[in-house]
Amino acid sequence: MKAIRRIAVLTAGGDCPGLNAVIRVVTMGALHAGVEVLGVHDGYLGLIEGRTSPLVASDVRDILNAGGTILGACNKSDPRRFAVRRDADGKPVFENVLDRCLDLLGRERIDALLVIGGDGSMTVAQSFVEAGVNCIGIPKTIDNDLVGTDVTFGFLTAVATAAEAIDRVQTTAASHHRVLVVEVMGRHAGFLALHAGIASSSHAILIPEIEVSMDKVAALVQERARTGTRHTVIAISEGARPKGGEQVVHRVDPSSPDPIRLGGIAKVVSDELERRTGVESRHVVLGHVQRGGSPIPADRVLATQFGFHAIRLLRAGARNRLVGLKGLELVDVDIREAAGKQRKVPLDSPLVEAARALGVSFGD
Ligand code: F6P
Repeated sequence: MKAIRRIAVLTAGGDCPGLNAVIRVVTMGALHAGVEVLGVHDGYLGLIEGRTSPLVASDVRDILNAGGTILGACNKSDPRRFAVRRDADGKPVFENVLDRCLDLLGRERIDALLVIGGDGSMTVAQSFVEAGVNCIGIPKTIDNDLVGTDVTFGFLTAVATAAEAIDRVQTTAASHHRVLVVEVMGRHAGFLALHAGIASSSHAILIPEIEVSMDKVAALVQERARTGTRHTVIAISEGARPKGGEQVVHRVDPSSPDPIRLGGIAKVVSDELERRTGVESRHVVLGHVQRGGSPIPADRVLATQFGFHAIRLLRAGARNRLVGLKGLELVDVDIREAAGKQRKVPLDSPLVEAARALGVSFGD
């Protein structure tokens, strides 16, 4: 087995709280074991454009509780399909620049690439694995939708941020006897809405896994008004969709590995509820507020556990693993298992059942 002497680390995809905690422990853990660390700037884009710098102890001092990523992130740079220029009609022209990245890794004598990312980033990592690069994945995303782990770091902080925002919405909704529809992120998975909705006593939680019947949601608003509670707070995933309808797409970006940008469903639902029930309705889109800021302590710890597990795996000679948590156990699975797959909220989960027992409507 070839000894690991030099590793590269990158933060790919959208940022989330806890990235710096991983960079810190990966750097310190590697240096402690006599392994050099190269930081790649702006995710895979830094590999494509050759933008890297060594990471040493002073680079990762005092960053544990800082939001974002000191390395920079980018969610538009898939090296297998990278738009470097536009044609006459303004459409992106794609070029496969994987070889450029492989050259850089070879030149820099990198023995392993640590990819801190979500499912899209793991899909890209799979191409590196197929080209013979040892990739170790560390699962991040506020969406919590990665296969191979029960939880991704960043998720719990986003839940706390969204729940606090919905708590605030609760009091203004009650004062003005309004319907308030709060849109949370999560892409095609409802984990963030489900957890934030339960944590904030939302009256309805609408998630992509369950088609939303507007009849049912309007009936909830009317029933609450009839029984003397004239306000209703609804947590809705950006990926939720009305029965027979489509997801609301805010923007399409063909140059992105994740070309569909969701957003706008809260306004659609709010307008429709006001029309159907006559109760004044407003909507709030929490947006990137959920991705920013300092990680809560639970995420600092989880990110530290994940990062150190990755270093431990490398030192033990592991190849192409994705670290994760199953129950309370640190685990690792083949990185290819997570590539191109998205985890969804299991509809028979005890949490969904508990919410239903509490009277929460899922719009079904
Ligand atoms: O995957 C994380 C996430 O925040 C999703 O919840 C959201 O749909 C998307 O990224 C937003 O991406 P962008 O930063 O490109 O707006």
